[in-house]
This record gives sequence, structure tokens and C-alpha cells, in this order.
Amino acid sequence: MSAGRPIERLDWTARRVALEWAGGARAEFASLWLRDNRREDRDPHSDQRLIDVVDLPERPRIRSARLADGSLVIEWQDGAAESRYEGEWLLRHSDAAEASEDFARTPWLEGAGLDATRDFAWLEFAALSAGGATRAGWLARLWQDGIAFLRGVPATDEGIFRAMAFVGRIAATNYGEVFDVRSVPRPENLAYSDLGLGLHTDNPYRDPVPGFQALHALVTAPDGGESLFADGLALAEHLREVAPGDFARLARTPVPFHYRAAGVELRARRPIIRLACDGAVAAVHYNNRSIAPLPLAADAAERFYRAYRRFGRMLRDTRYCVKLRLRDGDLVVFDNHRVLHGRTAFSSAQHPRHLRGCYLTRDSVQSEAACARRATTGAGRA
Ligand SMILES: [Fe+2]
Repeated sequence: MSAGRPIERLDWTARRVALEWAGGARAEFASLWLRDNRREDRDPHSDQRLIDVVDLPERPRIRSARLADGSLVIEWQDGAAESRYEGEWLLRHSDAAEASEDFARTPWLEGAGLDATRDFAWLEFAALSAGGATRAGWLARLWQDGIAFLRGVPATDEGIFRAMAFVGRIAATNYGEVFDVRSVPRPENLAYSDLGLGLHTDNPYRDPVPGFQALHALVTAPDGGESLFADGLALAEHLREVAPGDFARLARTPVPFHYRAAGVELRARRPIIRLACDGAVAAVHYNNRSIAPLPLAADAAERFYRAYRRFGRMLRDTRYCVKLRLRDGDLVVFDNHRVLHGRTAFSSAQHPRHLRGCYLTRDSVQSEAACARRATTGAGRA
């Protein structure tokens, strides 16, 4: 017997199956879709498909469809073996399924109204490393809010490596596996100075853009150097609402990003707001320090700058920004395709400040979160 909502109604023709589940969800499946998703055509070990679309009949016809033990059972007119599909699996993969994303994102627009220590997920490092449902919940919140925090990460050079082993795979760059955010003379990146930094996302000049970023506070100052965060997803959606023309301009204009240092020359073109196929905001890449001169004719440049300025003004509006002071041993992880970060200025001569950072591949963070959830819910076939 399959778990979950039972199928309450079945209608079928030679080319279609229509189902209705308890609770009212309905979906219709084409015979070709059903034929392409037979369990028998998948490798039982890897679950990878053994057939290609050209191996399928163009118009497979159903001889009969019936329900048995919560599953749909199909007999085919061409004599292919009977196929069985679990009802809950069909619902999960139908167009009636809710979010197609593994982890739904919850936008938070007015960051100033939030208390970062209360409104985002915080977890002791010891609890993260113990794993289980607590770690699964923290990783889910990291995807949901785009940001999550750890406490009590050993404030040593190795602490960030120990913590990230439970979050995702570190993506090395020209800085190495980790980078140290502290003031140096004549910095090659303004992050390595005492200056305040406006809200930005990191490294839009790379391909791929680093998926997640972690910053581990090793030495924090009692004065200055506060961390700032804003939700680019919520801000982009807000821009779409209040200024749809400017939103479209930022979504359609490819922007050249550039970074140059000794032995490094990185360039990539991408819009400031990247849209998914369905028009949803997929990513925000905003970094005023690394936008190269735009190859735009005068009219197009004026239109682009108007939109860019409007978005930039929103990022300066303190209403949208949550501020907090990290303490020694705190570690923040955030979605670098979504959450913008910045800091207030500080004086390293008075109080040294040292954060150690790294990037994480996006797919590895997604995979860790999905595996942690699978381990706690015991979910079966994908
Ligand atoms: Fe940064």
C-alpha cells in the first residue's frame, strides 16, 4: 500500500490518464509521459533511465488502466510489460505539484524590522556536527531564508573547514580555499581595508558565480565592522512591483563584470537580475566595484543607468537591511545568488578585525540539505 493521499478517481482513454487525489488535487498524464517514466526502464541501482526518447513508441496506447494498492497500473496495447506507478509519486511529479524547487525560498523584504539573532536560524556548531533532524532543519532554513548562522565554531584557522564539512563543498578560487578578510596595506580588493562596504554580492565576474559564502568571525571589534544583509530576491520582486520597466531593464541587459589582480584576469557577462524560465527571479548579482564599462549606446545607457540607480537606491535604504555584530566564533552562511552583504567601516588600528571566508558550490549545499532531509524523513524514490 503506498503512503500519502489516496487516489479517489481514475478516468482514462487510450492516450490519457486523469487522476484525482483525496483533497482535490487533479492531474492528467499523457501516455507517452507514463511510458517514459516506467520503473522497469530505470537501472535499479542508480535509478538512471536506460532508454532514450527515440526508443519509445511515438503514440503509445493504453489497453487498460486500474488502481491497485494506491498505485496506477497500466496495460499497453503494444504488448509492453504492465507498468505500475505509486499514487504519491505521480502527484509529486505532476503539474499539480506545488513548488518545483526542492526548497522553497521565503523572501524577507524589510530587514530593518528583523532581529537577526531571533528571525534567522542559529545553531551551535556541536549541534550541526551531531547531524540528524537539527542539522536538516538548519540547512532547510538556509535555503528558505538565504542565510543562517552558527555559534561556537572554534575560532581557529581550521574552524571554517570543520564547520563547512557539514554544509557543502568549498570552491577554491585564486584566493585559495579560504580568504582572510582583514586590513592590509594597498589592498588588491577593498574588502581587505577598513572601509565600509555597501551591499553587494561577491564575484559576479566568475563563471559560475560562487553559490554560497561563509564568513567566520575570528576576531571581532567592539566598535564598527557590523555586518549588513539584505534579501536581493525580495528587493528584485519589489522593484518589479514598483518599477516594472526598470526591473525588465536590469533583467535583460548583460552587464560585463571584471576583476584583475596579479596573475588573475576574470570576466563574465550577466544581468544584474537573472530570471528563471518561468519569469521568477533566479539570482541577483550586484557589485558596483567590479562592473566594467558598459558597451551601451547613449540612449540605452541612459535607460540602464536609470534602472541601475533605482535599484542601487533601494540597497542604500536602511529599511531593507538587517544589521548585526558577529561575535568571536560566530559563522554566517548565505546564498551569494540572493543575499547581499556589506559592512560598516571600522578602525583596525584601534581594534583589529579578522573574518575568514570561503565559497561553497551551490549544488553541494543543495545536495547536503536534500540528503539530510532524506535521512530524517526516509523519503524513497526520487
Ligand atoms: Fe563581499
